[in-house]
Amino acid sequence: MAKITASVYTSHVPAIGAALDLGKTAEPYWQPVFAGYDFSKQWLQENQPDVVFLVYNDHATAFSLELIPTFAIGCAAQFEPADEGWGPRPVPVVQGHPELAAHITQSVIQDDFDLTIVNKMTVDHGLTVPLSLMCGQKNPATEAWPFKVIPFAVNVVQYPVPSGRRCFQLGQAIRKAVESFDENLNVQIWGTGGMSHQLQGARAGLINREWDNAWLDQMIADPQACSQTPHIDYVREAGSEGIELVMWLIARGAMADVNGGPAPTVKHRFYHVPASNTAVGHLILENNV
Ligand code: DHB
Ligand code: FE
Repeated sequence: MAKITASVYTSHVPAIGAALDLGKTAEPYWQPVFAGYDFSKQWLQENQPDVVFLVYNDHATAFSLELIPTFAIGCAAQFEPADEGWGPRPVPVVQGHPELAAHITQSVIQDDFDLTIVNKMTVDHGLTVPLSLMCGQKNPATEAWPFKVIPFAVNVVQYPVPSGRRCFQLGQAIRKAVESFDENLNVQIWGTGGMSHQLQGARAGLINREWDNAWLDQMIADPQACSQTPHIDYVREAGSEGIELVMWLIARGAMADVNGGPAPTVKHRFYHVPASNTAVGHLILENNV
């Protein structure tokens, strides 16, 4: 049986990818950001998953405004890094897990969540920056990502976007799907995006430390209540792009405690301002089953 062993949460700021790709990680501005992931890289090496179910959002890269799926599951064997205007990031091609992705698709759609099946797409910074932060920089000519990845894209770019409640319930359905897959696989679920940031308009640059940390406290301790947070609270308190945080609730909904099991262990928590014009948040929760 496949098992969800842990969940990882992290911001996916594109400038972090650029800092890695341009060799700037030791610069005084960036060093504290990457230091927040030292523990995580070690932890990931000691807790290697077979597959990561990676919840992220596409930033009008693979999906233009012509076609906007609310929830899209990547069922392909491979996903190439996207060209977001400066050429594709120099990172390995992402290897998918078509069999597990197809099984999850079947189970989750039959549980009444209408996923879009994606058999071909590129993946942007929303997916590749979390991989780089957690795995370190990999030379695409000689190295591969150390596990398979099922990309799961959520529309948080164009309104209407899904509610935190819907995301949390979807996470519960994903857990049920993974745990009914008939192969012994160690699966992690990652939620990405956030924390507070607003990229445009009069409030561009907005950061709200207090709100971010209170939201994190509640997301850890009482995710059901956290999932009731209305969209307007995210936008008002965490900025227009702070809405990306609903994706963290998909990962949280897939943890054992909200599906009849024991509470997870908080292995690591990190918060730093700024990275570009974004607050970086990061969390690792381990299941105790
Ligand atoms: C930026 C873009 C993002 O997608 C994000 O999540 C944070 C920051 C940016 O362009 O700075
Ligand atoms: Fe983003």
